[in-house]
Amino acid sequence: MMFSKRIACIGAGYVGGPTMAVIAMKCPQYKVTVVDISEARIKAWQTDNLPIFEPGLLDVVKAARGRNLFFSTDIDAAIRESEVIFVSVNTPTKTFGEGAGKAADLQYWEKVAREIVRESRSPKIVVEKSTLPVKTAQTMENILNANDRKIHFEVISNPEFLAEGTAVQDLLEPDRVLIGSHETESGLRARQEIVDIYAKWVPRDRILTSNVWSAELSKLVANAFLAQRISSINSISALCEKTDANILEVARAVGMDSRIGNRFLNASVGFGGSCFKKDILNLVYICESYGLHEVAQYWESVLEMNEFQETRFVRAMIREMFNTIVGKRIALFGFAFKANTSDTRESPAIYIAKKLSREQARVVISDPKALDNARIDLAELEGITYQEDPYQAAVGAHAVAIMTEWDLYRTLEWEKIFDVMEKPAFLFDGRNIVDHERLFKIGFNVYPLGRPPLKHF
Ligand code: NAD
Ligand code: UGA
Repeated sequence: MMFSKRIACIGAGYVGGPTMAVIAMKCPQYKVTVVDISEARIKAWQTDNLPIFEPGLLDVVKAARGRNLFFSTDIDAAIRESEVIFVSVNTPTKTFGEGAGKAADLQYWEKVAREIVRESRSPKIVVEKSTLPVKTAQTMENILNANDRKIHFEVISNPEFLAEGTAVQDLLEPDRVLIGSHETESGLRARQEIVDIYAKWVPRDRILTSNVWSAELSKLVANAFLAQRISSINSISALCEKTDANILEVARAVGMDSRIGNRFLNASVGFGGSCFKKDILNLVYICESYGLHEVAQYWESVLEMNEFQETRFVRAMIREMFNTIVGKRIALFGFAFKANTSDTRESPAIYIAKKLSREQARVVISDPKALDNARIDLAELEGITYQEDPYQAAVGAHAVAIMTEWDLYRTLEWEKIFDVMEKPAFLFDGRNIVDHERLFKIGFNVYPLGRPPLKHF
């Protein structure tokens, strides 16, 4: 089959895999090859046991795999044959040297750029899909265009806004697609090529174009704003607990103001995920490097509030269970950083499990999808047990703490759970997803977030 365009994507992770699968499904005239250095990941993409759990993803992959969607470890070949190269490798927080703990670690990016230069024999459009510090495109161009073959590379910023758990839906019907380029003749031509790809299924008025710096920065800012909303509502949840106000009622009243909006106002044990923390740290680092210390502090406080929320949650657990949890079995319901994903990166449950374990509790982790990752995250701790079935996890437990808002927990037979637990039985709801009054009536001592506890003593 003759393809009208060949697209490569370097990085077959949570972003590269789903994004390319959707492009391939929607654009059968393009050949889409997703490559990665991880053989295991690529192998898994070639089977029905995909390397990531994402609702609806397998159907999308199956619709295009082998037709115009390919997964491979031959990175060089994919670079050589493609006119457009998306790069969606990981950009974690730097753990060493200058900027450690804040700046983005761009080593994977730079490596890819050098590989593209080495293998290319014709002009390419290189698309930044990873989340990157503003001005990265400049560095990329310096590396890419320093080739002695005089090949022209055009760098485009096309940040990804999908959320895990709803990735397929977010890709099929995005709020917007953002495409930033230089406003030169070749930049605008490359921008149009990327617009044309998305225009195959995204309404034209949802495809935004901008200069390349605005696109890079908008991604960091979008994540910072989203995280800020969670920290804002979480900060108020602490105040509600002191004042007999109810965070659900406050969130509703505030969110019905159309200027504020009602989404992303769920108080929680804290936000997790691979990106909010790293992207805010990155934003903070960038602000500091431009001497904008007040701006840096402002955004850093979003992270401080998140840590406060995690800490006060676990402290309340210990305090309410008579200030000692030594030897007590505590079941964590949920370990994924949010529902409908197996991803546990930066999950608040990691922090909570470690803290409880250090207090010598007997922690049992339950989750429908994330137990494999939980085992890796908690490998250093002894005495943690893993039990997928929540009913089994609750047997002999002094407390259940809900960490992830899986639907499954909303519909459990809580009477059954109460019956098999030690008494007094404690329920700490880190997501406010169960019917607190009903559980109180069953006999639990219930600790919601952002409203006073319901206790039998
Ligand atoms: P990930 O860790 O799941 O995937 C990255 C992949 O890149 C890995 O499979 C890794 O093996 C591969 N890789 C690294 N170096 C490579 C190289 N030199 N050659 C080939 N492959 C290489 O990461 P992710 O969650 O997909 O995130 C990727 C980027 O997208 C990050 O910048 C992230 O901030 C951003 N992002 C993530 C999400 C999300 O929901 N996870 C959403 C939007 C944006
Ligand atoms: C987030 C953004 O929503 C995406 O737009 C972005 O592309 C992505 O980060 C990224 O750059 O990686 P994601 O982290 O997958 O997506 O999931 P979210 O739905 O944003 O949830 C993040 C965390 O906030 C989760 O722990 C979630 O439980 C928590 N959360 C979310 C709350 O505590 N309260 C809320 O009201 C919403």
